[in-house]
Amino acid sequence: MNILVLGSGGREHALAWAILQNPKCDRLICAPGNAGMDQIADCADLDICDGSAVLAFCEAEAIDFVVIGPEAPLAAGVADRLRDAGVTCFGPSAAAARLEASKAFTKDICDAVNAPTAAYAHFTDAASARAYVQAHGAPIVVKADGLAAGKGVIVAQTEAEALDAIDTMFGGEFGEAGAEVVIEEFMQGEEASFFVLVDGETCLPIGTAQDHKRARDGDTGPNTGGMGAYSPAPVLTDAIAAQALDEIVRPTMAEMARRGTPYQGVLYAGLMIENERARLVEYNARFGDPECQVLMMRLGAQALDLMLACAEGRLDQARVNWADDHALTVVMAAQGYPGGYAKGTVINGLDACPENSSHMMFHAGTRATGGQILANGGRVLNMTARGATLAEAQTRAYAMVDSIDWPEGFCRRDIGWRAL
Ligand code: AMP
Ligand code: GLY
Repeated sequence: MNILVLGSGGREHALAWAILQNPKCDRLICAPGNAGMDQIADCADLDICDGSAVLAFCEAEAIDFVVIGPEAPLAAGVADRLRDAGVTCFGPSAAAARLEASKAFTKDICDAVNAPTAAYAHFTDAASARAYVQAHGAPIVVKADGLAAGKGVIVAQTEAEALDAIDTMFGGEFGEAGAEVVIEEFMQGEEASFFVLVDGETCLPIGTAQDHKRARDGDTGPNTGGMGAYSPAPVLTDAIAAQALDEIVRPTMAEMARRGTPYQGVLYAGLMIENERARLVEYNARFGDPECQVLMMRLGAQALDLMLACAEGRLDQARVNWADDHALTVVMAAQGYPGGYAKGTVINGLDACPENSSHMMFHAGTRATGGQILANGGRVLNMTARGATLAEAQTRAYAMVDSIDWPEGFCRRDIGWRAL
């Protein structure tokens, strides 16, 4: 079959790599892709948030299956457009993707099904939001309602910080995303990510992972899109995963179906675990980046079969074949990220970096020119390794980091510390 992957990050390179392991894939096209995807597939310059353009491309290239990586095309209704035209597509409708696109929507659903999550209130004006914070005190969490590229959440340690955040959000910093603000109880505990395929009805867990959101070692520095991940996440035990499935994921999915907006795709539940119980922090309507890199490393070729079963409503017959393995990925970013950083610096030594079934370098912001690979974004490379133990995967991933020569880049040296 002919397959189109939408996106250009490490997540999409990992999806493309796994899809290519599967003999069902005859031709793979990535749009827009990056230098790493260009080495293994065809790349097409396409506006991936323009449903009509994506559909026209699918018709012209006889695409049988579309895998949507990032949230923006989902929120823009690209999956709806494709499915309406009969193109098989992995990714939820815009209505179902509201579970990521609107925090207030998700909180209302949690209320409707009694899913454990932080207590909250939402506001459309600063004065009532400020009054709520003054009544509840700190620590407290202030969130812009809409998509804000991971920057719309302030975990305020003091009341003054929370009040500042409210003023910033209603002040227009996040545009439309900040027109409504959610204020939440601060939850203690350890975070982990739970990934579940959903075909509208059946929920099939496909793995757990833990991300590292802060830029610097020891979970210090500013928040980022994610600086590294590993899978499985031992904190998310089988018992806690079962509780999260029974109390959070399945009821949410049933409620979405009941409302006439069934969810189809991967649901990423961000969980807070305390005293052996999970509470929901947030949903995302897509794979995490870099969590996807470690999941794909572990799933390999079966990832395509699972995504197809999901898109075709056959998850009740699907199963995941787990190897007893561990994967870990280290993100290499341009110095300055998540703040300002330079583009166009040269990355050397890439050829010496091993690539095989237990070592993969997934590209994120890279660009090829004149036989060289240049950094072209904040997060640039994902050194991803598999091992019989997490320690082995970690050693292998850092050996990959150390084999390349890129003085303008940096990474955390402690990915995996919570589990090791
Ligand atoms: P979100 O975009 O909702 O995932 O929030 C980003 C990050 O903020 C999460 O990954 C958590 O680390 C933190 N966070 C969000 N909500 C809460 C909460 N209610 N209590 C504690 N931490 C939170
Ligand atoms: N790594 C976190 C995310 O993809 O949202």
